[in-house]
Amino acid sequence: MKTDYNIRCTYKDGAWGELEVSDNEYLTMHMAATCIHYGQEAFEGLKAFRGKDGKIRVFRMDDNARRLQDSCEGTMMAELPVEKFKEAVVKAVKLNERFVPPYESGASLYIRPVLFGTGAQVGVSPANEYMFILFVTPVGPYFKGGFQTTPFVIMREFDRSAPLGMGKFKVGGNYAASLVAGAKAHELGYSNVFYLDAREKKYIDECGAANFFGIKNNTYITPKSSSILPSITNRSLMTLAEDLGLKVEQRQVAVEELATLEEAGACGTAAVISPIERIDDYDEKKSYVFSKDGKPGPISTKLYEKLRGIQYGDEPDTHGWVTIIE
Ligand SMILES: Cc1ncc(COP(=O)(O)O)c(C=O)c1O
Repeated sequence: MKTDYNIRCTYKDGAWGELEVSDNEYLTMHMAATCIHYGQEAFEGLKAFRGKDGKIRVFRMDDNARRLQDSCEGTMMAELPVEKFKEAVVKAVKLNERFVPPYESGASLYIRPVLFGTGAQVGVSPANEYMFILFVTPVGPYFKGGFQTTPFVIMREFDRSAPLGMGKFKVGGNYAASLVAGAKAHELGYSNVFYLDAREKKYIDECGAANFFGIKNNTYITPKSSSILPSITNRSLMTLAEDLGLKVEQRQVAVEELATLEEAGACGTAAVISPIERIDDYDEKKSYVFSKDGKPGPISTKLYEKLRGIQYGDEPDTHGWVTIIE
């Protein structure tokens, strides 16, 4: 949905300029901009929520600002200062306040920052000019029919990223690289692809555009890998799991271990938790089932409710994750 304003900032002559407000959805740039040819581009995704009290809360924007800096470092782009990022978020949310959905809708305002090379250059090297844009758009509740499980699929013919590659950064190329696999998974009736590590195809990486977690023996287990995006939702769930008295393990998780998990889920900004019904191993003709009745497990449900509660202001923000937009 088109909203009223977006925020822009340009990097030129070695420095970032002032934030600018625009009502234009389009931009003009040189046809030799490095973002178009060499993928000098990174983005972020975060949300603002309207609470029962009418206040608007943004979740963990410092972490998104820092992750964008990491992505810039990984693509040799100019890093945007954290304070400038936060200022842009606050400005965009305030200017588009009428688009923040009401509490009762379960919807939210999605915030999309993007940074890319605009310097014109045919040689493969980093640009000397960059642009940062931040726009917002309302998004509906992820679960239209309530908090529900969906099936995922392991397909060894596709990798999303390499062990020493770009998977740990939020860069556009990773998403282009996942489109064919995603389309095939959808065609086969799955909600998304479940990626294994590219080197050995032995360990779990992530699922679609989300991190993976499993629950067993009162333990929250999530993969440690150099080729997955460090999810801010996952980091939050690890903290909340500890608060709930669970043990937390971030380590390599072998595919066979799926058979021992009591609950499994995908986690990210889009859904908080997307509980997994089953994971089919397409190549080995095997199935790992986590839910027989479409219902998420009790620990996944507790974690989901707790995190959403903090985001909407129904639960106390005990970890200082929320910024209230005054
Ligand atoms: C590849 C990938 N993994 C994981 C995530 C989840 O990250 P976050 O919890 O920060 O949204 C995302 C979404 O941002 C993603 O694109």
